[in-house]
Amino acid sequence: MKLIIFGPPGAGKGTQSEIISKEYKLTQISSGDILRAKKNSDTQIAKLIKFYIDSGSFVPDDLIISIMSDEMKQCDDGYILDGFPRNTYQAKVLDEMLEVKGEKIDSVLCLRVPDEIIVARLSARRTCTVCSRVYHLEYNPPKKENKCDYDGAELYQRADDKEETILERIKIYHTETQPLIDYYQENNLNYCVDGSGDINEIFTIIKRHLNSLALE
Ligand code: AP5
Ligand code: MG
Repeated sequence: MKLIIFGPPGAGKGTQSEIISKEYKLTQISSGDILRAKKNSDTQIAKLIKFYIDSGSFVPDDLIISIMSDEMKQCDDGYILDGFPRNTYQAKVLDEMLEVKGEKIDSVLCLRVPDEIIVARLSARRTCTVCSRVYHLEYNPPKKENKCDYDGAELYQRADDKEETILERIKIYHTETQPLIDYYQENNLNYCVDGSGDINEIFTIIKRHLNSLALE
């Protein structure tokens, strides 16, 4: 199965794709996690990535397309793309890349969350320094304070989770990424889910949809 998940910052893309990847044995390919892992080295490209990410703007299309294409080559058994594509240009390039190999995306999950919920979610998010799993201090807290449940590593607060940067990311989502709803609607792939409820209830709705695809 090849899936895409998209939605505004803080919609729960990382949270849901972690659960989905476990349930369906897919590789989770998160563009944001990959870029964050690259941004701290001492290279020109790392400095460029850091500049874009920390200010809440997109990295250049060609850069992210090349990174994601390399990652996708390594997982033939199926994946869920979290954070890519993020605009219609990237979506078209992805379609072309898959077409060359005779492949296609099976479903596109769009998480919808109102802007007012996003700031509350992101300002209390904590992320594992090692495995990138995400927690929320109130809604999804780690068992031990500031430690990841899976590997015990320290949790940290992302540099782009400051209120002014969150607002910038939301603005860019509406202009650049939201048009993907129409793009994938035209291909009959889009499945929108209300992402404002409980984490497990959202997954139950997604699971029902993915199981119905498997039966087709
Ligand atoms: P990226 O890392 O993808 O950031 P984002 O899109 O802003 O999304 P987030 O990771 O902030 O949120 P999420 O939807 O994953 O939510 P999460 O599950 O963590 O990208 C970062 C940057 O990289 C971009 O700004 C850009 O610079 C660059 N980039 C990446 N891809 C790119 C591309 N294709 N092209 C160009 N540039 C690119 O959940 C958030 C919080 O809420 C957590 O604390 C979680 O525990 C909690 N939570 C989740 N679900 C629920 C729920 N249902 N109820 C209550 N709390 C919940
Ligand atoms: Mg994420």
